[in-house]
Amino acid sequence: MAFIVAIDGPAGSGKGTVAKLVGKEMNLLNIDTGAMYRCASLYMIKNKISLDNLNKIADMLKYIKIEQKNVEGTERFYLDDEDVTNEIRQKSVNEIVSQVSHIPIVRERMVEIQRQMGKSTDVIMEGRDIGTNVFPNADIKIYLDATPEERANRRVKQNLENGICIDYDEILANIKYRDNNDKTSSVAPLKQAEDAIYIDTTSLSIEEVCKKIINIIKDKKQN
Ligand code: DC
Repeated sequence: MAFIVAIDGPAGSGKGTVAKLVGKEMNLLNIDTGAMYRCASLYMIKNKISLDNLNKIADMLKYIKIEQKNVEGTERFYLDDEDVTNEIRQKSVNEIVSQVSHIPIVRERMVEIQRQMGKSTDVIMEGRDIGTNVFPNADIKIYLDATPEERANRRVKQNLENGICIDYDEILANIKYRDNNDKTSSVAPLKQAEDAIYIDTTSLSIEEVCKKIINIIKDKKQN
């Protein structure tokens, strides 16, 4: 049986960075499920598929190829063999990704791919519904959180590092909008699993958060 660590939390809670670092340290394949929904959104933008065209979306889900590869130590995302790592963080994607992720057929297909990935490989998977829906029996469930303002600050920094310039106020507004959308969705809403460990990262460094999670994993593996 594969060992599964599920990390959930809102946008900017640090899941991505933490999952990457902990995965490396503990030898777990790190899977960013948000990026998968972002790739589907980018595909829809590029192919001018509207959010309510379920026939076209169903077609897209049959053929779309989404891959996450580690290239020279960094995680890259490929949509139909094209590197879209930066493109999937752009404003046009931010604006529709929450809605795309709430389309039931999109979710079903992404969850199917995610479960497949966790069948034979030890993984650390980060997203919104990993502990509640994708892997309800995960070995470890973590829920990361931080204030919206702190999360917006982190996104601005992360974007700048990737050469993307979006204003703080715009990012904060988008984070609040997506929080609300994600938490009130009728399809797999963002919520903490009952057996998840809650970590407020607002005033913690990345190293401190990683250390906490690594200790939780080590304890679990010893028992
Ligand atoms: O983590 P992120 O900001 O890259 O996620 C992008 C969007 O995808 C976010 O609005 C919520 C959605 N998402 C989801 O619904 N389920 C997941 N497992 C991961 C992300």
